[in-house]
Amino acid sequence: CGIVGYVGGRRVLPVLMEGLRRLEYRGYDSAGVAWLEDGRIELVRCPGKLTGLDGLLDGRRDAASGIGLGHTRWATHGAPTEANAHPHTDCTGSVVVVHNGIIENYYSLRQDLAAEGHRFRSETDTEVLAHLVEKYLDGDLLAAVRRALADVEGAFALGVLWTGAPDRIVAARRQSPLVLGLGTDEAFLASDIPALLPFTRDVLFLDDGETAVLTREGAAVCRLDDGRPVEKAATAISWDAAMAEKGGFRHFMLKEIHEQPQAVLNTIRGRVVPETGEVRLPELGLDEAAVRALRRLSIIACGTSWHAGLVAKYWIEEWTGLPVEVELASEFRYRRPLLDGQVLAVAVSQSGETADTLAGLRMAKERGAPVVGICNVVGSTVTREAHGTLYTHAGPEIGVASTKAFTSQLAALYLLGLYLAQVRGDLDAAARREKIRALVAVPGILEGRLGAWQARCRELADRFYGCRDFLYLGRHLGFPLALEGALKLKEISYIHAEGYAAGEMKHGPIALIDREMPVTVVAPRDHVYEKVLSNMEEVRSRRGILIALGEEGDEALRQTADHVVEVPRPPDPALNPFLYAVPLQLLAYEIAVARGCDVDQPRNLAKSVTVE
Ligand code: G6P
Repeated sequence: CGIVGYVGGRRVLPVLMEGLRRLEYRGYDSAGVAWLEDGRIELVRCPGKLTGLDGLLDGRRDAASGIGLGHTRWATHGAPTEANAHPHTDCTGSVVVVHNGIIENYYSLRQDLAAEGHRFRSETDTEVLAHLVEKYLDGDLLAAVRRALADVEGAFALGVLWTGAPDRIVAARRQSPLVLGLGTDEAFLASDIPALLPFTRDVLFLDDGETAVLTREGAAVCRLDDGRPVEKAATAISWDAAMAEKGGFRHFMLKEIHEQPQAVLNTIRGRVVPETGEVRLPELGLDEAAVRALRRLSIIACGTSWHAGLVAKYWIEEWTGLPVEVELASEFRYRRPLLDGQVLAVAVSQSGETADTLAGLRMAKERGAPVVGICNVVGSTVTREAHGTLYTHAGPEIGVASTKAFTSQLAALYLLGLYLAQVRGDLDAAARREKIRALVAVPGILEGRLGAWQARCRELADRFYGCRDFLYLGRHLGFPLALEGALKLKEISYIHAEGYAAGEMKHGPIALIDREMPVTVVAPRDHVYEKVLSNMEEVRSRRGILIALGEEGDEALRQTADHVVEVPRPPDPALNPFLYAVPLQLLAYEIAVARGCDVDQPRNLAKSVTVE
């Protein structure tokens, strides 16, 4: 989602609308603005793109107001309707809130507030914030916001306006981005820098756990918990508008690769209780008796989403003992798939609009199978047609080659597998606790390694960008990773690349090995490690070039491979796909950049393939 806020001497609506236009790439399900006029809050919201909202503001853009908030939404809770669009107000209409993030305990907060007489008008998690602030208001908006946020679990970046304090906006942040812009006798608020650039280049970055009061005099920042003032120096931004949209990264793809710790965390957030080993997925709407009666799973997907399904097969078969078929949707739809009420069909799609995946989903439904969607775009066709949807909360993915959508699909599928094992009694609480703890560690591990991986992949790219062919090998969980690594490379660098199960190499690809073709091997120290090592020896004895991705400190790997990319050992080898996916993406990215390719919009490819 995108947030903007303004207080100062300009007319507020043009400022808000210009800011929103620059944030539209962050989400475009619905948009809205709220401003103070004659002591009252005016609110205009509209589902769909920003042009819809713009039309509704005809005749009102010159409103005599110098304070307001705006929002463009990427839906998480609730469909993209007008009622669910931001800003949200409390019952009295005196408090207005824009929010980006996820309130994990919104359901219990909402129940408590409803019991106290608050009436809710939307299905969003954000609306509870407006009611909570109103509940705690006692003349001081900042104090009320701090009290309210003490009750809140989850992530937020927010802006709050109250008719009782018409000179100020209160902003706060925990784990969702928020920047403040400073001008002469004016102050701005935005979830991202592009919204500020038309007006100012002097910004303050709010850190987690900080809140700020914005007035014409500037921004006063303090800690959310104890109210202690925080001294912050303004930063002067030199980015141009195009750079700013990409968060300072050269391409959307690189930005999205770097967003993966957050995307995975957001997908896990609120769905697990690490202490008890419980996984909560009420959104699936699955009947527990039906889950216990399942005989099989059928995962239907295309492209990178299909690779995520292939990874999940290993997890889910191991944890539940249920057979899992992973189907290319374009094949599945023209077979006579054996489906009935005891087969759970899982349609995995970032966009939720891929034509083949939709056709597969419909076939599964017709044959009486319960259908779960795993999807990133709220309100998309898959989510409307599936019986229940498990959303990945990766945020908008703009680069055509899928990156953060893939790792957040992995997180969603991992949760789905654990959930099935929980309901069916296949894994006890202790085992699930371990698996959840391991998953929760993933974002931190990724965050710590991104920089080093990128530097290493750049070195490798400098050396190999001129190659014509690449082979990618892996076994077990490493096999779908090899497929995904090869797909990433061919998509964006136009180098021919093949992913293969390492054990199949001798049945064909071994004939290709020579001194010209790098062989990229996914080689974590899992139960098939020794086998992968022997395959590497086979490549070596034919004088092939070996690039291995393997565990830190693995001497045997160093001896065997020509080049090693080190990956830390996760708490459980089941997590390796998350960790190996990222350097594979970076390797493809750096090679494509070295070749001067259009990384974000590779030739002939589309982000969402809505035709057969
Ligand atoms: C296109 C995209 C891929 C994506 C595939 C499936 O080919 O370029 O990145 O993996 O479609 O898309 P979906 O939205 O269904 O996950």
